[in-house]
Amino acid sequence: MRIIITGTGGRLGAAVARHLRDRHRVIAWDRKALDLRSPEQIADHFGGLEFDAVIHCAALTGVDYCEQHPEEAHAVNTAAPAQIARICHQRGARLIHISTDYVYDGRAPGLREESDACAPLGVYAQTKHAAELAVLATDPAFLVARASWIFGPDRAGFVDAIIQRAQKDPDCGAIADKWSTPSYSVDQAALLEALVLHPGAGGVVNLGNAGACSWMEYGQAGLDLAHAAGIPLKCRVLTPQKCADLPGFLVGRPVHTAMDTTRLASLTGRDIRPWQEALADYIGTYYGRR
Ligand SMILES: NC(=O)c1ccc[n+]([C@@H]2O[C@H](COP(=O)([O-])OP(=O)(O)OC[C@H]3O[C@@H](n4cnc5c(N)ncnc54)[C@H](OP(=O)(O)O)[C@@H]3O)[C@@H](O)[C@H]2O)c1
Repeated sequence: MRIIITGTGGRLGAAVARHLRDRHRVIAWDRKALDLRSPEQIADHFGGLEFDAVIHCAALTGVDYCEQHPEEAHAVNTAAPAQIARICHQRGARLIHISTDYVYDGRAPGLREESDACAPLGVYAQTKHAAELAVLATDPAFLVARASWIFGPDRAGFVDAIIQRAQKDPDCGAIADKWSTPSYSVDQAALLEALVLHPGAGGVVNLGNAGACSWMEYGQAGLDLAHAAGIPLKCRVLTPQKCADLPGFLVGRPVHTAMDTTRLASLTGRDIRPWQEALADYIGTYYGRR
């Protein structure tokens, strides 16, 4: 299969490109190869190529950056995927568009199902949600895959930052009143391959590992695993913090967005492993060597 992957300089796109390139003809575009702010560049890049599918991972992902740069966020997170969807539809290609758990309203505890209400807060979530609507309005057979709290070897994220801080600072905290599902980019890449090969997989699917935790539980699991891997830590136990106590956030985040993976398991025919197992795999594989 000839598969275009965008965002291959990022955490998910890099893992997807690496996973697919042995078995498929992969065309990998990072920001240097294609700037999604330019509709002309998008038209030029896709225009001259033969392809069967696009996995669109690129996005402007900084929640507070998007709040401060709404035009850029709209161009990259909404207008570009809408244009890519139109191109894929015209060319008869399959599209998987990566979205986010931040589109859910997240007011009730529990696991979010794909049909749950959306109420995106702030520019990042609103531009991502607008893209979902545009993609599925263009072709309901396209797939919107909602990701959450991605970790992996290609770009440091929350759990890496906590481990780094805990190596220097004996007093580290993390938010204990917001819940989601940590998700391993390596697992997501394998699941995306199954989804791209499944032409009947349309609509919305939650793309994560299984289970739920607070940011603090996620960080604490990371510290416990790093300690077990022999990394010297000055802080071994995180102090709980509340979202409301952190003045740094420019925009609110949804509270309960851990995701139900029943549809993901059914579409891919795979068991979705728990986030704890995936995190142990990541830290065991990559941290011993750092
Ligand atoms: N990370 C998470 O926890 C998380 C959670 C939920 C959903 N998601 C979604 O998952 C997808 C992948 O996220 P990720 O974690 O891989 O994020 P990431 O590491 O920030 O990767 C996104 C990539 O998009 C690129 N990009 C930004 N602006 C661009 C532009 N104008 N033109 C072309 N490329 C541009 C970035 O380029 P640079 O390398 O130059 O920055 C980056 O390589 C995104 O759709 C995101 O919304 C992520």
